[in-house]
Amino acid sequence: MRNTILVGPMGAGKSTIGRMLAKELRLPFKDSDKEIEQRTGANIPWIFDVEGEVGFREREHAALAALCQCEGLVLATGGGAVLREDNRELLRAGGRVIYLRTSVEQQLERTARDRNRPLLRGVDPRGVLSSLMEVRDPLYRSVADIVVETDERPPRLVVTEILDRL
Ligand code: S3P
Repeated sequence: MRNTILVGPMGAGKSTIGRMLAKELRLPFKDSDKEIEQRTGANIPWIFDVEGEVGFREREHAALAALCQCEGLVLATGGGAVLREDNRELLRAGGRVIYLRTSVEQQLERTARDRNRPLLRGVDPRGVLSSLMEVRDPLYRSVADIVVETDERPPRLVVTEILDRL
C-alpha cells in the first residue's frame, strides 16, 4: 500500500493532521523530524546549533530516504523537505503527496509560541516565513498530487477533505 505524505510549511498542521489521518486510515504515523531526532539522539535545535543547516539537511535526506521506502505510512515531513531535488524525487516516488497550503498569517499564529524551530529564532518571523514561502510554494506544488487549503479550517475538516480526495 502506498504511503500518504504530507508536505507544507512550518505551522501548516502536518503533524496534527497526519496523526488524525493515520488514525482514520488505521495506518502508522511517522514524522520525519522525530525520525531525525531519534536517529541522531538529539533534538532539531541542537542539530542546527552543532552541525548547521547543512548537517541537518543531510540527516533529513537520510531519514526521508528510509521512510519513503516503507509502505502504508502516513508521513509528515519538515517544511524544508522539498528543497533538494533528490528529496523531491523520493517524495514523488514514495507515495501520494498532499500539500497543506497555509498563509503566512496562519503560520505566524500557529508558530508564535514555538521555540523548537531554529529558522525562526531571533529573526523577524513574518519576513522569514514570507521569503521561505516564495521559494518553497512552487516546490510543494511540484511534488503534490493534492493541494488542500488549511487556512481558517479546523484540522477535522482538513482531514475529511483529504479522505474524500484520496
Ligand atoms: C524546517 C521545518 C521544521 C524542521 C526544521 C526546518 C524548515 O519542520 O524540519 O526546523 O526548513 O522549514 P516543521 O515544518 O515540522 O516545523
